[in-house]
Amino acid sequence: MRSITPSFTPTGIPTTFYNLFADAGLPLDPPLDPATREPIRPEKLGALFPQGVLEQEMSTAAHVPIPEPVLEAYAAYRPTPLRRATRFEQALQTRCALYYKYEGASPVGSHKLNTALAQAYLNAREGVTRLATETGAGQWGTALAYASRRFGLSCSVYMVRSSYAQKPGRRTLMELFGAEVTPSPSDKTEAGRRTLAESSEHPGSLGVAISEAVEHAVTHPGTKYALGSVLNHVLLHQTVIGQEAQRQLEELGVKADAVVGCHGGGSNLSGLAFPFLRLKLDGQALQIVAAEPASCPTLTRGEYRYDFGDTAGLTPMVKMYTLGAAFVPDPIHAGGLRYHGAAPMVSKLLERGLIEARAYAQTSTFEVARQFVQTEGILPAPESAHAIAAAAELAREADAQGRRRVILFNLSGHGLLDLGAYEAFLRGKLE
Ligand SMILES: Cc1ncc(COP(=O)(O)O)c(C=O)c1O
Repeated sequence: MRSITPSFTPTGIPTTFYNLFADAGLPLDPPLDPATREPIRPEKLGALFPQGVLEQEMSTAAHVPIPEPVLEAYAAYRPTPLRRATRFEQALQTRCALYYKYEGASPVGSHKLNTALAQAYLNAREGVTRLATETGAGQWGTALAYASRRFGLSCSVYMVRSSYAQKPGRRTLMELFGAEVTPSPSDKTEAGRRTLAESSEHPGSLGVAISEAVEHAVTHPGTKYALGSVLNHVLLHQTVIGQEAQRQLEELGVKADAVVGCHGGGSNLSGLAFPFLRLKLDGQALQIVAAEPASCPTLTRGEYRYDFGDTAGLTPMVKMYTLGAAFVPDPIHAGGLRYHGAAPMVSKLLERGLIEARAYAQTSTFEVARQFVQTEGILPAPESAHAIAAAAELAREADAQGRRRVILFNLSGHGLLDLGAYEAFLRGKLE
């Protein structure tokens, strides 16, 4: 399997992000202005994002250079390890080889830092002083809090209320980095107050938290909004994962037959899979699987249409698989997968049959996470456990067909700050 990356640093970090849609000439439907329902004018997005981010969002270059200060920040933890899960394979009694790219090795414990650093740098470069964002499980908020600190920005995080209660450790970490953390829905914004008026016990959702963060950004001078998934530039930043993985597999002389990632908004799956998809488009046999929660089945049961990215209808409308912007998923512990929509790029690939999606019940993902920690010693984030469940399922299917396949999955984060969830699992209190 050949890598598609033009160049790497001497330590093995790609020097460019990979833009699959530009490289392969795949079309994307334009985002629409929520007021007019016409394609949105780029100037309008300037209220939310700096120019450097917007240029990447709409880039038509196949390879987008990674700025030097971002590469320097990546050097603290990249390349992340690619490992074979040998003991996990033994426990599964499979003939397949399972490899994982371990993004939990980042300082904050997940892949989210790859885009947080790039976004914080691009904002700081243009004189922005504060970033506002939402966070589900807290992984994205933690990553942006650290990246903001690194590039001298302040950071306001709206944290989905159910996660705020379930994961106090994440909140503490964000506050240690200097971020201001507010449980959402809150009374700080119009969108939050409206939601609380409808239901004072609202558990929160990513859709509501996004509305609050967007409102915060447009009503505070010097503040821009940052999103941890879904948008083209976020997926672009995550392609460092797949480019490294291709090279690491190449060094081992191994060719992947299947590539798997969990799916919340689509960034870790895309980050790993996009460089491999180029090879698939060139004719190589390759299965790409998105693993999502059964309680928030955006890709397996959603509709493909234009919808809002948030609940209050403040964001541009994008064409994606969606459960509807008002959908409030059950408060499962994989908070980062509780999103009603999906990345437009992932949605397009699914519609074209280039990737597939599967859904898993919460308890089955915790079972597989236990098997993984017992064999490999790494506790996966509840989100990442969905990818492990899918990889194990692919291995079982291949065994049943008498095939030996190489399955690569993204271990997008560790679960050391999700111990409350694992505690509930061990005590039989998981729903
Ligand atoms: C560890 C981890 N994995 C996966 C996700 C899902 O997001 P995405 O689909 O953008 O990778 C999240 C989101 O918070 C996360 O924290």
